[in-house]
Amino acid sequence: MEEIVITNFEGVYEPAEDSWLISKHIPKFEGNVLEIGSGTGILSIHLAKRGHQVTAIDLNPKAVEATKFNAKNNKVNIEILEGNMFNPVKNRKFDVIVCNPPYLPPADDYDDPELALAVEGGPGGSEFTIKFLTQAKNYVNPSGSIYMILSSRMKDFKVDWERNIIKQEKYFFERLNLVHFF
Ligand SMILES: C[S@@+](CC[C@H](N)C(=O)[O-])C[C@H]1O[C@@H](n2cnc3c(N)ncnc32)[C@H](O)[C@@H]1O
Repeated sequence: MEEIVITNFEGVYEPAEDSWLISKHIPKFEGNVLEIGSGTGILSIHLAKRGHQVTAIDLNPKAVEATKFNAKNNKVNIEILEGNMFNPVKNRKFDVIVCNPPYLPPADDYDDPELALAVEGGPGGSEFTIKFLTQAKNYVNPSGSIYMILSSRMKDFKVDWERNIIKQEKYFFERLNLVHFF
């Protein structure tokens, strides 16, 4: 993995096991890429360092600022947009879409709304992901695909994509999967 330096910002998801899993193990691919939910920008910066043209979106304005800061600090050019999921890229298509989504069911102990936005994926943990994968069909080129993180703590779901687990990591409380949807 390219050496990159990430500065953490208050109110922005601090890179964790899921961020490292997708950043380290996402396979080589061709073409431009869209990231939904860039946080500090760790994954987008990694992909830009590999030579991809990258567009990054986050709903949290502090994450947008963090991605801009870290992109500049790591000397990469990334298009960085604020907005809800695919809204800022209406009518555009990408070769690959990547996402480390909010995937946990709600917990009582998140009194921080930005942290809740980063980690809570809906009542079953998978609602954000189902919406993301359903809408992604409109934003991916015909031969394009998606790489994303799924957790064993999410409720099972069916979507209109084939899927393949690229890499799995086990922790005492969950299994994290880097999954290719195609
Ligand atoms: C688990 S964090 C991942 C951050 C970063 N990609 C990483 O791997 O460290 C999920 C990110 O998705 C963003 N997010 C949540 N809901 C969103 C939405 N509807 N549209 C865009 N971004 C969203 C959060 O603000 C957060 O930055």
